Amino acid sequence: MKRSVTLDINGSAHTVQAEPRALLVHVLRDDLNLTGTHVGCDTSQCGACTVLIEGQAVKSCTVLAVQAEGQQITTIEGIGSADALHPLQQGFWEKHGLQCGFCTPGMIMTAVDLLAANPDPSEAEIRHAIEGNYCRCTGYQNIVAAIQTAAATLRANPGAGRLARAGV
Ligand code: FES
Ligand code: FES
Repeated sequence: MKRSVTLDINGSAHTVQAEPRALLVHVLRDDLNLTGTHVGCDTSQCGACTVLIEGQAVKSCTVLAVQAEGQQITTIEGIGSADALHPLQQGFWEKHGLQCGFCTPGMIMTAVDLLAANPDPSEAEIRHAIEGNYCRCTGYQNIVAAIQTAAATLRANPGAGRLARAGV
């Protein structure tokens, strides 16, 4: 039986009717049309579904929507726009950190969490942070370069990383 669930996503409250067993990723995509969060596996391994919950990168296929009620959720749609890219989005663009782009939203959300906690990560720390995010295209080198570029931008201008619609 469905129940009413109110989720705080990208700074706005959204109320949906969801079954208690519904995963957050499915509610984001199917009920709220936030399709930037992807589903790449059914084993909680790929990281394509990564969002921020209370600022921490979480695989949204591992969370029930009802568990996320009352917590601040940020999706890829909340961190930038075509006209005002987040430094990580800009970094992936400049360093060719994507090919098909399927993994990219999850990679970026994981990197947002990393750079908030560690503004100047080493290459090893970046690789460790994204070890739960799989990419089938790029070979990772350009992804690491993209995150390093974004880190440098954010160190020079921390305000550039303000999450566009999350208000944080
Ligand atoms: S969809 Fe693959 S980890 Fe969530
Ligand atoms: S860019 Fe294609 S899976 Fe990463």
